[in-house]
Amino acid sequence: MKNHARIRSSFEQHYGHPPEWIARAPGRINLLGEHVDYNDGWVLPAAIDRCARLAFSASTTSEIMLYAADLEANVRFDLNALDDKLDCDGNPLPGWALYPAGVAWVLRQNHLPISGLQAVLTSQIPIGSGLSSSAAIEVIFAVAWQALSPWQQTPMELAQICQRAENEYVGVQCGLMDPFSILHGVRDHALFFDTRTLDWEPVPLPAHVSLVVADSGVRRRLGGSAYNQRREACEQALRLLAKRLPGVHALRDVSLDDFREHEQALPPSLRPIAEHVVGECVRVLRAADLLKAEDAKGFGALMLEGHASLRDLYQVSSPELDTLVEIARELPGCLGARLTGAGFGGCTVNLVEAQTAETFIERLSSAYAQRTGGKADVWISRPVDGANLLLHGQRKPV
Ligand code: GLA
Repeated sequence: MKNHARIRSSFEQHYGHPPEWIARAPGRINLLGEHVDYNDGWVLPAAIDRCARLAFSASTTSEIMLYAADLEANVRFDLNALDDKLDCDGNPLPGWALYPAGVAWVLRQNHLPISGLQAVLTSQIPIGSGLSSSAAIEVIFAVAWQALSPWQQTPMELAQICQRAENEYVGVQCGLMDPFSILHGVRDHALFFDTRTLDWEPVPLPAHVSLVVADSGVRRRLGGSAYNQRREACEQALRLLAKRLPGVHALRDVSLDDFREHEQALPPSLRPIAEHVVGECVRVLRAADLLKAEDAKGFGALMLEGHASLRDLYQVSSPELDTLVEIARELPGCLGARLTGAGFGGCTVNLVEAQTAETFIERLSSAYAQRTGGKADVWISRPVDGANLLLHGQRKPV
């Protein structure tokens, strides 16, 4: 409750009255299935216990008044002037304000009426670290506007609204995984999600393992073109493979055998890109079965394979992430380790025997400092429930 009390009092100081609502949206890790959600693939993420929080009330104007407490920054923008991406003083919206503005823009495009807001935002999710700090902000605003409106969308529809905000307003061509996980998280479970059919199922994590997140401290910018370039490369590879493989509508439809038979049709630059996606889809399907059978060791081995594929084929790792994985895999009790999220910096996720987790954390942190001179933030992360709302202290689902 401490976090809620803090944001409540920050809201009161700012606006002179208590907030009507508080919303919470968690970050996410991905255990396996990286860079496949925009190829119709399968993913295995989980919502985690680092969250964003938003205290808010409806306002009587069309203005959004937002105080980002961690940044000590205020922004005001108008719902009737979203296309220009300008604040009420005519200045370009700061990067972090594009997320709420983008969600508002999509809601209005979808003819879902929304009101002005007074709001205070805080977040424990490190920015640019691969833990979906931006999707958490999008989700929290989608949830907030829904709470104040007569319309009701399903959590999956809200996730799609957030994805569209990111694609069309912010300009990152991301998939559905992040807002999906943030809205559908289930405590102590990973989420096995088919990004084509939108079917999903929570899979319990074995009780004897812990998930340890290691933040390399190196930040990336997703808007940075590297992510969009990878997506474009996947689309090019698909176009070439689909000419030879009828019935292939996304790289997820290409089997490993088909890929081997037809890879020569791809230019050398596209071959490793498609190979990662095809291999990663196979890995996720195997991994989901292993997790259901509580085979944490087998699952961990696939995480290591997944990292190697992201490093060597998809080329989205970084020296720091590789170092974290190299150190981790040699430590006692470590079953698997890989970068999580888009890559290019950020965090690794480690699957560790629960009774060795504390020693693992100490040894990983100190070896990383020794090898790189950098400081990694390393912690045990628990899967939690998805985004929710509090109204006058009562917890409400989205
Ligand atoms: C980012 C995107 C996701 C997904 C991952 C990589 O987190 O937002 O949609 O593509 O990268 O798996």
